[in-house]
Amino acid sequence: MKSELKHQNLKYFNTFKLNSYTDHFFIVRSFKDLKFTTNIFSDYKDTIVIGGGSNIILPEYIASLVIKVDFSGIRMISNFENTVLIEAYAGESWHDFVMYCINKGWYGLENLAFIPGTVGAAPVQNIGAYGVEFSNCCHSVVAWSLSDGKVIEIPVKECFFSYRSSIFKQELNRNLIILSVRVLLSRKWNPNLEYFKRNDFLSKTPEHTDSINDFIDTICSMRKSKLPNIKEFGNVGSFFKNPIVTKEIFLNALNFFPSLVFWKQGEDSYKLSAGWLIDNCGWKGKKYGSVAVYDKNALILLNQGSAKFDDVMNLAALIASDVYCKSGVILEIEPKVYY
Ligand code: EPU
Repeated sequence: MKSELKHQNLKYFNTFKLNSYTDHFFIVRSFKDLKFTTNIFSDYKDTIVIGGGSNIILPEYIASLVIKVDFSGIRMISNFENTVLIEAYAGESWHDFVMYCINKGWYGLENLAFIPGTVGAAPVQNIGAYGVEFSNCCHSVVAWSLSDGKVIEIPVKECFFSYRSSIFKQELNRNLIILSVRVLLSRKWNPNLEYFKRNDFLSKTPEHTDSINDFIDTICSMRKSKLPNIKEFGNVGSFFKNPIVTKEIFLNALNFFPSLVFWKQGEDSYKLSAGWLIDNCGWKGKKYGSVAVYDKNALILLNQGSAKFDDVMNLAALIASDVYCKSGVILEIEPKVYY
């Protein structure tokens, strides 16, 4: 098949369901397609690589080259006594990959079940939930270097993972197409319960540590209860990061909000709950155009049907400035916003 660019509305390629038009859309399905991207890459000022589209906010018109990776497959690379090294290709659904591993008896990813998106998107923002982040199991990321037309393997240390960020979200993003991820998983199920202990969840439901199936059911139902169904309302999960602030900013915010939810990280470092702050500034259920703050979780913005990029960004700016005025805390947007 001839490699060529297409005109495309990306509405069904981003989970916020924003209309976003481009004349430069290309689906990568083969090595030949990868070479084609390298040939045309320098014609563009920017490149956008789309995975499941669950962590991006797209503008109405895109002049950049837009690439969707469609490689699939899961394979075992090495089989050690206590661990296994598994490779999953970028186009696989993340949740299906997690379930595949659990069914094979390979553990480590279970707290990350039911996160929307593809495998290729997982390292970009270092997806995380219930006390575990992608970086905890990552061995390396395999990518196509657009600028020199080569496959490279980036070891975990060089991915510079941090809270909802990585080298792929930062400077290298324009040059790399993630092809697959390699994760080191355990043959023994050793549940990570830190989050549940902290949130007093286990005391209510102790049976959930007994079997992996119960555990997964619990994770999935917790996510379902806090996150709106993407099929019903476009959204990108958490719209803001939980801010990590200094003691001075924390104490100042605590002065305004004595029951503020926070987690102490270090001597001078506190992670604050963005959802709690937005909620307590009175934003649940508020609307701007066709975008609303989810009434069950203030951290989530919803597309109520015909949302536009400007509606999303205006509402986000109103929320952030209100939270700043009332608490002195600066909120940062979690998804990657393309202008
Ligand atoms: N809260 C409120 N009101 C709200 C929302 C939250 O009071 O409207 C309070 C909750 O009651 C709780 C605290 O805020 O005391 C924290 O809420 P929760 O534990 O649900 O977690 P979160 O901070 O809202 C983070 C991640 C989620 C992840 C969950 C569970 C970020 C930005 N979000 O949410 O990740 O699933 O923890 O681990 O780090 C994502 O990144 O897209 C995402 C969904």
